[in-house]
Amino acid sequence: MSTHDELIQKSKEYLWLPFTQMKDYEQDPLVIESGEGVMLKDTEGNAYYDGFSSVWLNVHGHRKKELDDAIRTQLEKISHSTLLGMTNRPATELAERLINITPEGLTRVFYSDSGATSVEIALKMAYQYWKNKNIEGKDKFITMKNGYHGDTIGAVSVGAVDTFHRIYEKLMFESFHVPFPYVYRHPSGDPDICKEECLKELKKTLENHHHEIAALTIEAMMQGAAGMILMPDGFLTEVRKLCTEYNVLLIVDEVATGFGRTGEMFACDHEGVVPDIMTVGKGLTGGYLPIAATISTEEIYEAFYDDYIHMKTLFHGHSYTGNQLGCAVALANLDLFERENIVAQVQQKSSFIEAELTSLHELDYVGDIRQLGFMVGIELVQEKETKKPFPWEERVGYAVSLEMRRLGMLTRPLGDNIVFMPPLSSSEEEIREMIRIIKEAIQNVTTKRETTVGSTK
Ligand SMILES: Cc1ncc(COP(=O)(O)O)c(C=O)c1O
Repeated sequence: MSTHDELIQKSKEYLWLPFTQMKDYEQDPLVIESGEGVMLKDTEGNAYYDGFSSVWLNVHGHRKKELDDAIRTQLEKISHSTLLGMTNRPATELAERLINITPEGLTRVFYSDSGATSVEIALKMAYQYWKNKNIEGKDKFITMKNGYHGDTIGAVSVGAVDTFHRIYEKLMFESFHVPFPYVYRHPSGDPDICKEECLKELKKTLENHHHEIAALTIEAMMQGAAGMILMPDGFLTEVRKLCTEYNVLLIVDEVATGFGRTGEMFACDHEGVVPDIMTVGKGLTGGYLPIAATISTEEIYEAFYDDYIHMKTLFHGHSYTGNQLGCAVALANLDLFERENIVAQVQQKSSFIEAELTSLHELDYVGDIRQLGFMVGIELVQEKETKKPFPWEERVGYAVSLEMRRLGMLTRPLGDNIVFMPPLSSSEEEIREMIRIIKEAIQNVTTKRETTVGSTK
């Protein structure tokens, strides 16, 4: 077995990490060895709070007995067999459970293995749906500015975060970008005015182009990767109405928000919105194994259902689709949601988080704090009053995340937004301690900056 030093060395020599400038990694390498509850441990034995649920996945903490047992039990039977042309027990049972908990009207589960693939499938489903119905010309998509749906090219094509997506412009298919109601920066500061303006733009785009649009993609309630941007109340409902009015399918991406994260089982439930297609991943297995799903209405499913010779089949699949180990742990995850009343717990603990976060408001360099349930973005700004950002090249958010690591907590910032998305099982004491670390890290980094750059307030 490799020693800690050997692992660090090998990681630098052989690995290429996702969303990571390897030059940064070389300076601050980290190898995780184990986890327990909300804590992670590295190969030197240092413990860290998992303050971002290992990239927004973890629900019940690490090494949750019921989830570990579900995998062991499934292992005694089989690890994997294909879903191409056949099914298996856990995938079938999980499909039924998903249909029972997702919004009424969604009836069919198509599995894959990551959030991005669940979105790819949603796009292909929507595109082919119109073709199968012999309605020509509906080939494009509408997406929200700053939307993020994953990193495969289809998902990137309906994404609109400049930093991640601009470079791939020529690889992308064309999408219409409409404004997302970014209330925090709207000159009026009024959610209703901001919402109405965005809806007006969307309506205009639909009016002019609905005949060329297959579907609209949107993250449910909270734009995650954009920096945790919360929608004003009623926006999603209005988007649903407009899509229906203009005969455009609504794809709601619940990859980040699904499974209790925002204080409802799905973020759509905050407004009782029923999409035509919903994508889920991340928390589906409690953060254990890579299973995702694209869930559609019966109407969409029926457009693909015909004799083979009519070529209406959805020609899409992945080798590990419907993996038994993943589906078995997802079933155990859903059992825990019921048994431990996770959604109600999240609602109750969200108020606690909100109250604890007030102590960050007093910091000079904290701008907006945006929260929906266990999904929090803490924005760092150079000027509190005007919300003027720090120069991006300074990477203040990154510096704060490294300082948090030194203080015993892991997260990944989104630019200068500190992400706080702990496992849903976090206790109030754990939450309090994590927020204390965030505060200390922000103070340490900004104080140090003041001494080097000078106060820029
Ligand atoms: C809203 C949303 N959709 C899709 C994805 C992509 O999921 P994955 O990383 O599992 O491909 C993410 C990932 O953060 C996400 O936040």
